[in-house]
Amino acid sequence: MSQATLIDGKATAAALRILIGKKIGQLTAEHGIRPGLAVVLIGADPASQVYVRSKRKAAVKLGMESFEHTLPADTKQETVMALVQKLNGDPKVHGILVQLPLPKHLDEKPVILAIDPLKDVDGLHPENAGRLMAGEVGMVSCTPLGCQLLLRRQLGDMTGKNALVIGRSLLFGKPMAQLLLAEDCTVTTAHSRTADLADHCRRADILVAAVGRPEMVKEDWVKPGAVVIDVGINRLPGEGDKERLVGDVDFDAVSNVASAITPVPGGVGPMTIACLMFNALRAARLQNGLDDVKIPTSF
Ligand code: GUN
Repeated sequence: MSQATLIDGKATAAALRILIGKKIGQLTAEHGIRPGLAVVLIGADPASQVYVRSKRKAAVKLGMESFEHTLPADTKQETVMALVQKLNGDPKVHGILVQLPLPKHLDEKPVILAIDPLKDVDGLHPENAGRLMAGEVGMVSCTPLGCQLLLRRQLGDMTGKNALVIGRSLLFGKPMAQLLLAEDCTVTTAHSRTADLADHCRRADILVAAVGRPEMVKEDWVKPGAVVIDVGINRLPGEGDKERLVGDVDFDAVSNVASAITPVPGGVGPMTIACLMFNALRAARLQNGLDDVKIPTSF
């Protein structure tokens, strides 16, 4: 059996960052605007701390301003709401990202609703979710956008392909399904209540897994020649006190049948951060009445 091509998210994200860096340089040189990204982290979840650090590093490296707000785990709802309002009113902040999940005592919904849709670089506000569905200009959630770019690079035209998205979250599954629909795929969304999940998987030319269950997608679930995008990041005990990262797909086994597959790590993860930078750039341009930017099919 031939081995699947590895879809290199690290290299694709690096190419995308070069493009974004150039556009930021232009924006600053021609209009005196430096995109500003505010990241709000509440509590001390180690995984979230790692993500937030990577986001700040990437922003600074590309010539953006990074504003980091770290609040204690017992922060009150009103304090979070007040911070979001303050960031909405700050002209140096073009993008606001509140790292999820929030500590249990906080309600995510009002926080998301409070973010100015123009600054909502996560694409979580219902206005942006609605715009995506309506095919209007808006902010699109970073991880699904990153997956769409990887698929475009791998497949080019996706017209008529059967695409299956496993997962229906606001942050990933729902926007991913919309983006695949916009690529003229025939899209199925599966979730924890789906009957005969393996059968749905076997019909998919494009299989996108975002369930958070380590190595759930098995070799005999995958159609020969399918392109597999693994969005899962699961931490399992590794050697000694180290941890091992695995996706939602049984990578080694599925590599025997898929035509192409993303690794974990080094697949979707790096694309999420690059797309966040892209969203912050777009937000800065749109808020200043400048043209939108599009990512070319090949970059
Ligand atoms: N937590 C994990 N991924 C994300 C993301 O893309 N955005 C936010 N806000 N929180 C996350």
